[in-house]
Amino acid sequence: MHMQYAKSNKRGNGRKQLFTALVRAENEFISGEELGKLIGASRAAVWKHIKQLRADGIVIDSVPNKGYRLSSKTDSVNPLLLPSRELDKLGMNIDYSLEVNSTNVRARELARNGCAHGTVVVSEVQKTGKGRLSRQWHSPWGGLWMSVVLRPNIQPAQAPFITVLAGTALASALRDDLDIDARIKWPNDILVGGKKLCGILTEMDAEMSRVDHIVIGIGMNVNNDVSKLPNGLRDTVTSLSLESGGGGAPVDRPRLLLSILGSLNRHLDKMSTSGGRAEVLGQWREMSDTLGRKVKVEMVDKSVVGTAIGIDEEGALLVETKEGEERVLSGDCVHLK
Ligand code: BTN
Repeated sequence: MHMQYAKSNKRGNGRKQLFTALVRAENEFISGEELGKLIGASRAAVWKHIKQLRADGIVIDSVPNKGYRLSSKTDSVNPLLLPSRELDKLGMNIDYSLEVNSTNVRARELARNGCAHGTVVVSEVQKTGKGRLSRQWHSPWGGLWMSVVLRPNIQPAQAPFITVLAGTALASALRDDLDIDARIKWPNDILVGGKKLCGILTEMDAEMSRVDHIVIGIGMNVNNDVSKLPNGLRDTVTSLSLESGGGGAPVDRPRLLLSILGSLNRHLDKMSTSGGRAEVLGQWREMSDTLGRKVKVEMVDKSVVGTAIGIDEEGALLVETKEGEERVLSGDCVHLK
């Protein structure tokens, strides 16, 4: 089931108003009759909206003769829960699902069918989430699994920079809005305390000289229980609820989604000038966990071992090896020390 939440989505309005009324009432019950008055709808319509909200994963308590109340158990990334919609470029259209195979696959389908720049796909669960290098990406309820469709006016060769830009935007959002000591592992994993919090999968459709669209897929462990991940991943992965100082308390995922989109938007605006791009690279360098480390980067045809000494304006990693400096545009990077 996919739902489009656009600004002028009339069908979703009653549901949204009802939801807002429940949020405003905080922990108090409101009767069906009162809810009907508040949103100008019949009790039957109220009941229909309640059923739809429940189907979207929003937990609503109901008690006979008292009415309805939003449960504190609601942990949903449903766009109805977004605190505000002040987004001007990214997130005007949000395609929300309870379950999807992969938000990147869905986003690419939408992009090939002509969806607008800034369309966002988000799902509570991914059945076949994709990691880099065809790896599986575990995506249970509670994480943030999202993809953003971009239609930038760039050449295909500039695409790796977008990957670096996305990592920078995410790390900045986590630092500024959640006070997390997020660091970037080249090209764009986000680490906290040396453990992986977030991965990014950038995919592109392009001709020789023109990019049609780029999909930035973001997978962040938020409220999902990372101790349930398979052996081998468990010790190297962390989640936002573990890192955000709330003693494992759930993090507000809709707010996080907004913070990420806002930061991505601001960083994309810097892409059009060389000064702006230099600023992004400067931020990347400051937040990098890779620079200065001994690394091994596996590429399609060879691997490079040496010290990571820099990143260039295209987003390539510069590695000092015994044989001289190597420039690595893409590959799988392991920190050796
Ligand atoms: C990595 O290997 O580090 C990248 C992981 C990217 C996972 C995200 S989750 C949302 C989007 N949809 C996918 O299928 N993958 C990306």
